[in-house]
Amino acid sequence: PPFLTVLGLETSCDETAASVVRLTPDGQATVLSSVIHSQIEDHAAYGGVVPEIAARSHVEMIAGVTRRAMTEADVGYAGLDGVAATAGPGLVGGVMVGLSFGKAVALARGLPLVAVNHLEGHAVSARLGARVAYPFLLLLVSGGHCQLLDVRGIGDMSRLGTTIDDAAGEAFDKIAKAMGLGYPGGPALERLAATGDGARFDLPRALLGRKDCDFSFSGLKTAASRLAQTCQTDQDRADLADAVQTAIARQLSDRSERAMIAYAEAAPPDDRQRLLVVAGGVAANRTVRSTLEATAARHGFGFLAPPMAYCTDNAAMIALAGAERLQRGMTSDIDTAARPRWPL
Ligand code: KG4
Ligand code: ZN
Repeated sequence: PPFLTVLGLETSCDETAASVVRLTPDGQATVLSSVIHSQIEDHAAYGGVVPEIAARSHVEMIAGVTRRAMTEADVGYAGLDGVAATAGPGLVGGVMVGLSFGKAVALARGLPLVAVNHLEGHAVSARLGARVAYPFLLLLVSGGHCQLLDVRGIGDMSRLGTTIDDAAGEAFDKIAKAMGLGYPGGPALERLAATGDGARFDLPRALLGRKDCDFSFSGLKTAASRLAQTCQTDQDRADLADAVQTAIARQLSDRSERAMIAYAEAAPPDDRQRLLVVAGGVAANRTVRSTLEATAARHGFGFLAPPMAYCTDNAAMIALAGAERLQRGMTSDIDTAARPRWPL
């Protein structure tokens, strides 16, 4: 057929997800289905993801979620060209559930298996919403990761910078927790910030202006958590939320600025598409998006973020990364192991 159709499975954190994606030879992706069961309610009482609860919930949900994704896609197992599953990095108990389930489907239906790096899924996620050519510069900001990547193609990415302590989403979550906002903290903090004005708070600006592309959020986390104790009114809390959001957005944009300069210098500019893509859960934040977009424009870079639904964890991005790999003949052995750590 003139296209590839791939079932993708994602179980590396707290969403059980399955999706069917179709990819044409020239890189046009169509999401035929994308089903996500969020475990947020299972973990909310603990203020964060409990690995054992997550793994058990994936076991319970994976078959039903996959069945729904297959029904909605309406192509039948015979219409699939491959099965892609997240093989890491992430909570290994959960990763094993999706990967083992994917192996079972692949074996039962005689389909190739593609083990996908979760980060590579986020890296291609903007291609689910628009035609995006390689190469591009990627800011990957999620609960577990905060990296700047030179993305030359599938399986061909190099890291320009990373966090030396917390990830950006982790900073959102921890500060939100200190403010009593519950889990996950990022979206709650963004909602609260909408009615706040952070100008009265002076938060630390880590690494600002430094020449490398690394991140650090621990100083901000400590300062904001201390200020949270002094907040008396709802307005105080909203003002602090706005200050925190602005500080995180500023750091992401300052480090991306460094990376844009390095990326543009790495080769004759005409050879390299000047495009900054942001992906991962934190890419859902509107202040983060608008700050990055303005910075990119100042450097002559275009800017793109995935559709909101594909910023946080989903299986469509895993199916697409799998399809892109399959297109290049990059399949995986059936005994591929789950990897809790797996740098790109
Ligand atoms: O990509 P993701 O779903 O999971 C990981 O791979 O980590 O990202 C989840 C992270 C959480 O830290 C969450 O608080 C953050 O993304 N997040 C946000 C927003 N939506 C999700 N952070 C700030 N603003 C948001 N609107
Ligand atoms: Zn993720």
